[in-house]
Amino acid sequence: MKFNKSAAEALFHKHFIISENTENNQNVEEVKYVLPKPECMFREEPWQKDSLQTLKNELNDVKSRLNNFTLDEWQQHTYQMNQAGDVLNDIKKHIQPEFITQAWCKFYEIVCNFSLVPLNKIQEINEENICSFSSVHLCEAPGAFVVALNHWLKLNAPSVKWDWIASTLNPYCEGNPYSQMIDDDRFIRHTLMHWYFGADNTGNIMDLQNLDALVERSKTISQGPIMLITADGSIDCTDMPDEQENAVVHLHFCEIVTCMHLLEKGGNFLLKVFTLFEHQSVCLMYLLACAFQKVIATKPATSRAGNSEMYIVCTNFNGRDYIEPYLNVLRCHYDACPTQATFGCNVIPDYFMRKIEDCARFFKRHQCKVIEDNINAFHSETYDNLLFKLKHFKRKISDMYLKRYKLAKIDLGDQIIGRDIIERNTKYIMSRKLRYDSYNERCRKQDSTLQERLQQIWSKASDIEILIESPYIVSESSNEPRFQIAVL
Ligand SMILES: C[S@@+](CC[C@H](N)C(=O)[O-])C[C@H]1O[C@@H](n2cnc3c(N)ncnc32)[C@H](O)[C@@H]1O
Repeated sequence: MKFNKSAAEALFHKHFIISENTENNQNVEEVKYVLPKPECMFREEPWQKDSLQTLKNELNDVKSRLNNFTLDEWQQHTYQMNQAGDVLNDIKKHIQPEFITQAWCKFYEIVCNFSLVPLNKIQEINEENICSFSSVHLCEAPGAFVVALNHWLKLNAPSVKWDWIASTLNPYCEGNPYSQMIDDDRFIRHTLMHWYFGADNTGNIMDLQNLDALVERSKTISQGPIMLITADGSIDCTDMPDEQENAVVHLHFCEIVTCMHLLEKGGNFLLKVFTLFEHQSVCLMYLLACAFQKVIATKPATSRAGNSEMYIVCTNFNGRDYIEPYLNVLRCHYDACPTQATFGCNVIPDYFMRKIEDCARFFKRHQCKVIEDNINAFHSETYDNLLFKLKHFKRKISDMYLKRYKLAKIDLGDQIIGRDIIERNTKYIMSRKLRYDSYNERCRKQDSTLQERLQQIWSKASDIEILIESPYIVSESSNEPRFQIAVL
């Protein structure tokens, strides 16, 4: 493990250009990316690309070496090993944004690195003096992208007027699975006018009626054209680490189709994905490469280096006229995951396929290296020495982050609701303190009898802490009620 300047720089340069359909591009093969006729879509049998499957198997082999670690011990270890691990706390301390999470840090990197807000297009579209745009944020709870975008705008484009809507699985809807929801509503509860939970109030973006309702809602947005859409959807894949891509790919399809209904010509789109090994993902990337002038995959320094998460930055949308003929066929496959491939393998140009392979290999190599380094460090006899060296490196990375992205405080009046209000609510979020076993232990438990399972649950129950608000206990320093911890 090296802790030098080039290792530090490398952390900030995990980018890969997937396509560039601009006139300046001299590469003839690339400018030819075109969609086939809509009637040719969803006709072919699902296909696999051997080279991509090999990469998938290699990655899964490395990941399977983690199967005997308990989640707790591994998370604690990787938390310490995280080279960008000081960034969040330093931002909190020096910049004091109103609401800071890991997502805030990742988004801020991306918005700085890729001109995610298309200021030049916004200026072109708007009348001379007033410059305004809107953004839509899909799968957005608890809302850190919105807060980070506001921070960036206030520092970098203070005269631009901006409005936003966000949609996400509704944290107040009882029918929504608890495991898929974010239970932190500190920001949401003060900005409810901006959140839209669709026709059925679930907020589920994978429902066509909710998509149409969102399109209607977006017409009431106050500040000009929608020039930016973000989609940060993910599903908890702890129990199927090998099939993360298959588990989320239809969610990505829905996020992309939603984007294509809403985005203005020239606008930008940010999508979180995981790996790109399966035909569904390759086809989605091809759809994006045809619909946008440029598509780049990036892994921010503040995204955990050992996971497969990466972001697809799509810039300069070709617009509604281009995509309109395809919307009907895309909508037909919205509610249920299509059984056929979006495009036949022969539709995808070889050059594009090679790009996807290179991209998948690039990110897989980085991820495997980090996992292997972390395993070696875990077993290292000089662990303390390693942590000592890492401590200095983490400081360096954090300083670099703050300087590189020119972070500064913004005035309280420029914040969306204000840090004080959110901080005041921090203690009112329920924390789920679940201790998971290792992956192998969880698999073994699936085979246990009902009685054995009850016994397991009962023994786990003693670990659960519930915070109960007690009006009878008042803190010494203030008159506010304190919480009591009840241990079952
Ligand atoms: C990683 S979080 C988003 C974080 C957010 N970008 C931020 O900055 O705070 C992923 C979100 O996707 C939401 N999500 C997952 N499946 C969804 C679905 N089918 N429809 C809508 N939202 C969904 C989850 O509830 C969660 O809020």
